[in-house]
Amino acid sequence: MSLQDKDRIFTNVYGFQPWNLAAAQKRGDWDNTKDIIARGNDAIIDEMKASGLRGRGGAGFPTGLKWSFMPKESKDGRPSFLVINADESEPGSCKDREIIRHDPHKLIEGALIAGFAMRARAAYIYIRGEYIREAQTLQAAIDEAYSAGLIGKNASGSGYDFDVFMHRGAGAYICGEETAMIESLEGKKGQPRLKPPFPAGAGLYGCPTTVNNVESIAVVPTILRRGASWFSSFGAEGNHGTKLFQISGHVDKPCVVEEEMSIPFRELIEKHCGGVRGGWDNLLAVIPGGSSVPLVPAADIMDAPMDFDGLKAVGSGLGTAAVIVMDKSTDIVRAISRISYFYKHESCGQCTPCREGTGWMWRMMERLRTGDAAVEEIDMLYQVTKQVEGHTICALGDAAAWPIQGLIKHFRPELERRIHEHNAQFAPETREAAE
Ligand SMILES: Cc1cc2nc3c(=O)[nH]c(=O)nc-3n(C[C@H](O)[C@H](O)[C@H](O)COP(=O)(O)O)c2cc1C
Ligand code: SF4
Repeated sequence: MSLQDKDRIFTNVYGFQPWNLAAAQKRGDWDNTKDIIARGNDAIIDEMKASGLRGRGGAGFPTGLKWSFMPKESKDGRPSFLVINADESEPGSCKDREIIRHDPHKLIEGALIAGFAMRARAAYIYIRGEYIREAQTLQAAIDEAYSAGLIGKNASGSGYDFDVFMHRGAGAYICGEETAMIESLEGKKGQPRLKPPFPAGAGLYGCPTTVNNVESIAVVPTILRRGASWFSSFGAEGNHGTKLFQISGHVDKPCVVEEEMSIPFRELIEKHCGGVRGGWDNLLAVIPGGSSVPLVPAADIMDAPMDFDGLKAVGSGLGTAAVIVMDKSTDIVRAISRISYFYKHESCGQCTPCREGTGWMWRMMERLRTGDAAVEEIDMLYQVTKQVEGHTICALGDAAAWPIQGLIKHFRPELERRIHEHNAQFAPETREAAE
């Protein structure tokens, strides 16, 4: 299994060529966009459905189906909007950044086509605050597209008026959650909304809205140019297409690379990252989809297909395809405890199980890290994760619970070892012997 260069969508992901409009057009972007739009809203949505593209923001919801939830006509005069999620705050994730800084025109063209398909009046690209240079590049690319008549009034000569706005966030992970993003765009505190109503019914400014990830939108023009069957020829059934993997941690060469979906883990790492540091026997565990998915121990991940279903089958998930590789030098309990701290810090605080539970979980994780706990507390911590999971307004609660569940499932002996070691150290006979 190997993706050939001719089948890569992101041909400038490493920035070897300029990002600007002239260079993007040479790479094939904005080539007769008018013709794609002329196919009509529903034909575009049908083609996207046929391509099998599943959202690249983490949850993997089918993109074409999501677009089809948008109203075909406005009965009350409300416009529709497309919101593009460039918040990219999931630890380990760094793909949208590469698209924006090296291939922004793919995203802007995708915004126009996707926006047209769902009958949206405008797209708002919400970019994480820390992406300062990326935001500058994106705004410059938007300006170029306006000047060239590609977006704005009569966008690309299609007869369709479409605006693209960039909005910078202020650095909160929770603003990546789609309804928190909508709140933030409206100028409010970025806190998730209760659903229903779903954004397709009442989203940004109370209008029908679809939120899609940067990668989901940026692949749209190429899918429509090359055809749904080309895209769906990659990857296993139900997991089609090519995908940007972001591999970090203990590999020889960490990288962002576009590969075929469903590539086995070992092949992905061998081919693009020069293998695991110290050899394959030195692999401890992998977090395959960004910090919120459960870790997978070495033996289970080796041959796992890197896609939504393949990673679900080994008790984890593809998430954003941010693959965090950990070798045997990793203090796995410390690593997961640090992740717990992240979720505690990023909880928006509006639901009690998340606001309180993330703090409890982190504090218990810290005690397990030092071993200053009782063995029964491992089960108690597991119970706490179960009381948070599925009991909150948004999925941040789940994201905080899952890494701990993965740790307990796969590394309980290590947790117990620390507790026994710690207790032995502080046992009266040990203290007396030391004195
Ligand atoms: C706490 C939290 C943070 C999220 N952060 C992001 C993010 O940074 N980028 C992103 O695209 N989706 C993020 N999501 C998922 C979005 O809510 C939404 O599902 C996604 O943008 C939909 O795009 P897609 O259908 O193209 O995948 C986050 C979800 C949660 C619960
Ligand atoms: S789960 Fe956490 S982050 Fe999400 S709405 Fe509730 S308190 Fe806020």
